[in-house]
Amino acid sequence: MNKKIRIAFFDAKDYDIASFDQEKANRNVEISYFETRLTEETVRLAEGYDAVCIFVNDMVNRQMIDTLYDLGIRLIALRCAGYNNVEIEYAFKKVHVVRVPAYSPYAVAEHAMALLLTSIRRIHKAYIRTRDFNFSLSGLTGFDLHGKTVGVIGTGKIGRIFVNICRGFGMNVIAYDKYPMADSDIKYVELDELWRESDIISLHCPLTDESHNLVNADTIAKMKKGVVLVNTSRGALINSEALLDGIKSRQIGAACLDVYDEESSIFFHDFSGHIVEDDTIARLISMPNVIVSSHQGFLTKEALSNIAETTLNNVEEFMATGCCKNEICYKCGKFAECNREQGMKCF
Ligand code: NAI
Repeated sequence: MNKKIRIAFFDAKDYDIASFDQEKANRNVEISYFETRLTEETVRLAEGYDAVCIFVNDMVNRQMIDTLYDLGIRLIALRCAGYNNVEIEYAFKKVHVVRVPAYSPYAVAEHAMALLLTSIRRIHKAYIRTRDFNFSLSGLTGFDLHGKTVGVIGTGKIGRIFVNICRGFGMNVIAYDKYPMADSDIKYVELDELWRESDIISLHCPLTDESHNLVNADTIAKMKKGVVLVNTSRGALINSEALLDGIKSRQIGAACLDVYDEESSIFFHDFSGHIVEDDTIARLISMPNVIVSSHQGFLTKEALSNIAETTLNNVEEFMATGCCKNEICYKCGKFAECNREQGMKCF
């Protein structure tokens, strides 16, 4: 029997362990689950393993890449799509990075709609009221989605599904994408028009230098008064202080947030009974028209099972062949010379 591939699995939650244990049953892999995140302090736990497996809030900086390299680790397997948490350019020629490009775009798009409906129909308020046998309707007035204009930023896998869901509600959809889809029936507009015309704006683009703080004081000022913002993409697409100001000034009618720019120190942990140090998230949560979920857009049975399957396929494929179709590097997509274009590893 071949030697098992040993994976150091960081930030392990009960739902991860359940899905990965099920998936690894007939594979030649051995997984050690660490509850802790991968940090400068914990990186040495990876000693003796073949690969590390991490999630969205495990930050991998230059020093950690050097340590992983010194420990003989050549593979970081992200069990998510986004990779803004890894110093990807620095990792080039040191440690290979693979990811799960798509696990269930439906999960995230449906969660975006769930947040939007909850917010505008005041379901979060009604739920708490009726549990206390308060059946009053005062303050619960919502509005119809039918006929409203939704501006979708980013029409990739998730954005496109969200567009279709919105169409099912009879909404008028406009969109902005840096690379608009050719031959689609989506009505693309410039960003300024999207800010101006949308009753609802939903973010589905990745976090890059360019999209960082895309929603800021200037762009909020361009939006319709009372606009509803939905962000299931990455927290730093929105400047949270500007969002708070926009809510206080009533320029923003409601915000539905599955992500938050400072989420790495808060999300996925139970802080009930603790004093929350982050004043911005505390103030946002205190607003009646802000709904926060803690990066749970991906959290469906289907997505967890796809994540486990693709992650272990990635690890096995890389260990067996030295290549992986889901490898990424900072050159991917940008330069024709990235080797992956020819089906090889990035370096
Ligand atoms: P994708 O790569 O299929 O689509 C992204 C789209 O954004 C592409 O069409 C691209 O051209 C466009 N884009 C790139 N830069 C842009 C810019 N500066 N402005 C406007 N558009 C731009 O990605 P996918 O799978 O649809 O995911 C979208 C985002 O959703 C991910 O980047 C990730 O941040 C987030 N996500 C959130 C999850 C959650 O649990 N809340 C789970 C999975 C992904």
